[in-house]
Amino acid sequence: MFNAVVWAVSMVLGTLMNSPVYVPIMLEQVSTPFYLAEGPHWDVEDNVLYFIDMFAQNIHCYHPETHEVTYAHLTGGPVTVVVPVAGKKNTFVVGCGTDLIEVLWDHRSNNLSPVTKLISSVEVGRTNIRFNDGKVDPRGRFWAGTMGQVGSGQLIDNIGSLYRFEYNGTSTKVLSPVSISNGLAWSHKKDTFYFADSPTLRVDAYDYNDNTGDISNRRTVFNLVEHNIPGIPDGLTIDIVGHLWVAINGGSRVIEIDPNTGKLFRTIRFPTAKINSVAFGGPNLDVLYVVTAQHDLSEQELIEQPLAGCIFAIRDLGTKGTPMLSYIRV
Ligand SMILES: *[C@@H]1O[C@H](CO)[C@@H](O)[C@H](O)[C@H]1NC(C)=O
Repeated sequence: MFNAVVWAVSMVLGTLMNSPVYVPIMLEQVSTPFYLAEGPHWDVEDNVLYFIDMFAQNIHCYHPETHEVTYAHLTGGPVTVVVPVAGKKNTFVVGCGTDLIEVLWDHRSNNLSPVTKLISSVEVGRTNIRFNDGKVDPRGRFWAGTMGQVGSGQLIDNIGSLYRFEYNGTSTKVLSPVSISNGLAWSHKKDTFYFADSPTLRVDAYDYNDNTGDISNRRTVFNLVEHNIPGIPDGLTIDIVGHLWVAINGGSRVIEIDPNTGKLFRTIRFPTAKINSVAFGGPNLDVLYVVTAQHDLSEQELIEQPLAGCIFAIRDLGTKGTPMLSYIRV
């Protein structure tokens, strides 16, 4: 069994006379490393955290009480996102290659060949393209984007799209072209959609129509370049006051921003570069779970960053999330 390890890292609260103001913060390492952990989803019913290990083609479940991590292995391409299906026990929607599939899995045990069912295929017949991150909108529809990549290596810009899946699995292309679909969050008023096409180095907002699921009127809410932040915006989540917590891949940090003003609040520094995504979890939704990767690090960087690929938990941030939703299926 893994025993959690607590590391002291620093958090930047802001600046005073143009100098950053640092405070110490505890970073709890709750797992051993994965190659490329992504897509964290906190399950409010079972109090567990789901995530994926992309090129290992596993969906995982982290059990906070024991620090045990269970998995189910899938075939059919990189596994990119896992979200529970509403009202159907042990049932998940999973992005796998260019397929959206339903997976039956009891998360308390490991399963090397779970029963699967195809929901929808996108980009049929196209090579070097796969799903990436996905989330459920306030109405229970599932959104996931695709991106171009040769195997697990070279990225191809501007050949992906963002899709919305209705309850019956019918897909609609919402945005195209996109390079790397990431982020995905909706405002609490259900009128704004947040998205990060990572290579743009921006977090964008769109008007969102909750009835139709349509989005329009793109504007930039945060630009990494303007804040001299290295890396690219990756997964993000929204907290209870509407601030976005954004994982900065290649930037060794998670940032807290206000999408309404564009203001940068806090910056949490990590001892590893590839910070992939974040989700609030825990019984009170006040634990920020952070998933990271070893992928793309050189041998030297792997030696220097022994915590690359671990799952982390951060408490005492003085904020919390709202329940993440499950995909409604008919
Ligand atoms: C699936 O649902 C959508 C949205 O409700 C609807 O427009 C479409 O006709 C449905 N498709 C099928 C095949 O039932």
